Amino acid sequence: MSQHLAGSSSSASTCRSALNRLRRRDLQRATRRVIHAGRGFQSSVYEIEYNGCRAAVKDFSQTPIWFRRLIAPLLVSREVAALKRLDGLSCVPAFYACPDRLSFAMELIEGTPLDTFSLGELAPEVFARVQAAIDAIHGRGVSHGDLKRRSNLLLTPRGDIVLIDFAAAIVGARRGRFLLNWLQRESAQVDDKSVPRLKKFVAPELLTEEDKHKLDTPTKLEKWARKLLNR
Ligand SMILES: Nc1ncnc2c1ncn2[C@@H]1O[C@H](COP(=O)(O)OP(=O)(O)O)[C@@H](O)[C@H]1O
Ligand SMILES: [Mg+2]
Repeated sequence: MSQHLAGSSSSASTCRSALNRLRRRDLQRATRRVIHAGRGFQSSVYEIEYNGCRAAVKDFSQTPIWFRRLIAPLLVSREVAALKRLDGLSCVPAFYACPDRLSFAMELIEGTPLDTFSLGELAPEVFARVQAAIDAIHGRGVSHGDLKRRSNLLLTPRGDIVLIDFAAAIVGARRGRFLLNWLQRESAQVDDKSVPRLKKFVAPELLTEEDKHKLDTPTKLEKWARKLLNR
């Protein structure tokens, strides 16, 4: 990595201005590596370098055409809205720019997804940091909605937790949007099962009685989902 490049360590506003003029036609030349090659309806994530800044670009341009036309722009705008609401939190990538309706650039996080850790491989202090990250986004009125997938939590080399992938997030705490706000709070309760689930997988000896209760008790949303899916 070149020393002069801005990126995860520099201020978000520097990268925002640097990436302001990033367009679809620039992406290929700016790409340094593929971080995640999406298949089917999945996005791909690239590391890019543009105008002196490093960033991660999440891109739906390779998805099937109907999905690309109808669904992908919605997913991008939902995720961007969540990242904007969460701006300034260190446990969430900073939003940088939107080259087009199918992609957005954000802070590049050097981290290891938590799904790559097995039994006994996570330091005990990590669990409190995961909960602190979840509390921080909930404090801004955002629920993540997909923390069941441990690949959406990254552990940085400094031991910090960063939450990624806000495509299923609900941005609540909006004036007059009672139903949406209620849904956000309900879905926050599902997010709150992440630490017990994670402990169950990598450190079951750390499960408290409260954790066990959370694991054994479906939330309202989970009950409805089960009813809908007839399970
Ligand atoms: N800001 C980021 N910095 C570094 N890597 C990222 C970033 N965002 C996503 N990734 C990588 O790309 C993968 C897929 O991104 P994600 O947003 O989770 O999309 P998907 O909806 O396909 O799960 C992640 O598991 C992670 O490895
Ligand atoms: Mg993901």
